[in-house]
Amino acid sequence: MSQSRKYQSFDFYRNVLKNAKYILAPMVDQSEYAWRVLSRRYGAQVCYTPMIHAKMFCDENHKQYQKEVWSTDSDDRPLIVQFCANDPEILLKAALKVQDHCDAVDLNLGCPQHIARRGHYGAFLQDDWDLIYKLINTLHENLDIPVTAKIRIFPEVEKTIKYAKMIENAGAQLLTVHGRVRDQKGHKTELADWEQIRRVKEELKIPVIANGNILYFEDIRRCIEVTGVDGVMSAEGNLYNPAIFAGVNLPVWQLANEYLEICKMIPTKIACIRAHLFKIYRPALPYHVDLREQFSQANTFEELCKISEELKGQYPENTVIQKDETGYKIFPYWICQPNIRLTENAKKNQEELMRKEKLSDENNKSTNDEPQVGVSSKSSLKIEELEKETESHNETNQTPIDINFGIDLMFEYNLERSNNKDS
Ligand SMILES: Cc1cc2nc3c(=O)[nH]c(=O)nc-3n(C[C@H](O)[C@H](O)[C@H](O)COP(=O)(O)O)c2cc1C
Repeated sequence: MSQSRKYQSFDFYRNVLKNAKYILAPMVDQSEYAWRVLSRRYGAQVCYTPMIHAKMFCDENHKQYQKEVWSTDSDDRPLIVQFCANDPEILLKAALKVQDHCDAVDLNLGCPQHIARRGHYGAFLQDDWDLIYKLINTLHENLDIPVTAKIRIFPEVEKTIKYAKMIENAGAQLLTVHGRVRDQKGHKTELADWEQIRRVKEELKIPVIANGNILYFEDIRRCIEVTGVDGVMSAEGNLYNPAIFAGVNLPVWQLANEYLEICKMIPTKIACIRAHLFKIYRPALPYHVDLREQFSQANTFEELCKISEELKGQYPENTVIQKDETGYKIFPYWICQPNIRLTENAKKNQEELMRKEKLSDENNKSTNDEPQVGVSSKSSLKIEELEKETESHNETNQTPIDINFGIDLMFEYNLERSNNKDS
């Protein structure tokens, strides 16, 4: 242990994380090394590994797991390695194995999945503050690098603040706050609570990272303004637009092929690659009826490359992003864009919007039949189709650790937001 030479709190944030604002979230099977290379190329300033199961990581009988979840190199920095655990000694053992190749070790306190309930980790430790204290404090006392944590909020802000302070007192040098409670997942995801994040930031002495509600680059600035946080983390926004941190929306084929090029250098699990391609190509899926099938059936890296290469030829080389009459950008379906998942309320709004449009179209005798898939406020989205696709995608892509942490992208939010206009 060398406590004296390890940076703490804002010194760590300044000197090691270089005051990062754009942070790639930990994502099981999705924030793997190859993806981190792509994300850094497009502006990610700090990256998290996928959550690693500390016990399996230390178990000699799980060599394959270790190989799959832990891959990095000297260019992959700053890097924070995330673990889930419920035993301080095992967590420490796992952390010691990686501490020479990363900048901090993070404890996952946010995973809300059944598997986390069964295994008693992630967000299910929220009820066991003593254990959390011990987990974090053991790393704080024994590692050469800082320990950090990623939490979900409680329904009551005062409890969230108390919880965050306990984690700070245990020795965490940075805290990421995902502004949703444990039950906000799947269809109950809803919006993240930035007000709670603001309150936590106000109360803590260590840097705070906000997580939730980031659909577009412009949301990052807005989140910092509203919450006062030091940096912003994106998971899904980055998966659907790997260039989100660079503030650009590039053609799907371009980013897909760039990612595949990286995978040629960095061996990556085929299931991870397939899942990435599904998401990058997401807006185009309704226009290529057999694409989902093709991706699902592709068993080799070469097959996936071939599909993506063939798609490339079908889209225009240059696309100028238009704006609609209210100032919102309209992304054609071959451009990377957020995946909009509707809440019940938003569905009603959308139906109302479509009904009004239909009426006005009838009045104007307009004949524009082109379906819009994008973020235009007048989008005549084929919502039901899109939703069905998302669901079946989730069904067919279950991994041993369920990755469907919660879809955060909602139309309501899109309607409410204002500062994407004219940006
Ligand atoms: C595919 C996927 C995998 C995820 N895996 C992890 C994980 O390993 N550890 C973690 O703390 N959160 C994980 N999450 C949650 C995200 O890090 C993030 O907290 C959540 O998606 C909200 O952020 P967003 O609105 O930017 O998507 C995952 C999310 C997704 C979509």
